Amino acid sequence: MAESTCGFGAPVTVALTGASGAQYGLRLIDCLVAANREVWVMISKAAQMVIATETDERLPAQPARLAEALTARSGAAPGQIRCFGREDWMAPVASGSGAPASMVICPCSTGTLSAVATGASNNLIERAADVALKERRQLILVPRETPFSAVHLEHMLSLTRMGAVILPAAPGFYHRPASVEAMVDFIVARILNQLGIEHRLTPRWGEVQGLGSEDE
Ligand SMILES: Cc1cc2nc3c(=O)[nH]c(=O)nc-3n(C[C@H](O)[C@H](O)[C@H](O)COP(=O)(O)O)c2cc1C
Repeated sequence: MAESTCGFGAPVTVALTGASGAQYGLRLIDCLVAANREVWVMISKAAQMVIATETDERLPAQPARLAEALTARSGAAPGQIRCFGREDWMAPVASGSGAPASMVICPCSTGTLSAVATGASNNLIERAADVALKERRQLILVPRETPFSAVHLEHMLSLTRMGAVILPAAPGFYHRPASVEAMVDFIVARILNQLGIEHRLTPRWGEVQGLGSEDE
């Protein structure tokens, strides 16, 4: 299993695919960097389009240039962010001997969700997720679609049964978010909870003002 070779905490694989919600994936990378974790990133072609549509970011596809761009935007240390190409079958994430303990697909398109559920492994993101499943490692998928079809729901159920965590991009409102950033952080906080990484992005349950019982 992969360990950091550069003095950072254990690496986490983060894949951004072409569902709406690129902000969730970009913020997750920032938070993992801030937590001193090494971050291994893959971005699908469709995710590139979504990022350009939803944000002011223009991220290059070429892995070394992408790593430079992500390092600059998140303030990561040199070597803290590594990026892999879509068909880089020699990348460590493509094998159980080299892949990290945890992988997050955020956001996760229904296309990638289906491919992972059926073991398609047609690109490096799908292969890395397949490796996580076969090795019984932590795999977290953050789908965003509405409404869900029976195909989506059946694939989510089978992935859950295989040990993956389905963590839909469905922010709550009980913390009264005053900004898009607060809604993004609601989801990123839940991903960090799953990864066991400390954060103060949102108040924990029981710390939210105005949620006491009526007889208090
Ligand atoms: C702007 C934009 C928004 C999209 N939003 C979604 C979405 O919310 N959920 C989804 O599953 N697919 C969405 N798609 C479609 C996927 O990007 C498309 O199915 C693509 O083939 C997914 O490929 P990937 O899984 O390799 O990233 C969107 C596409 C674009 C361009």
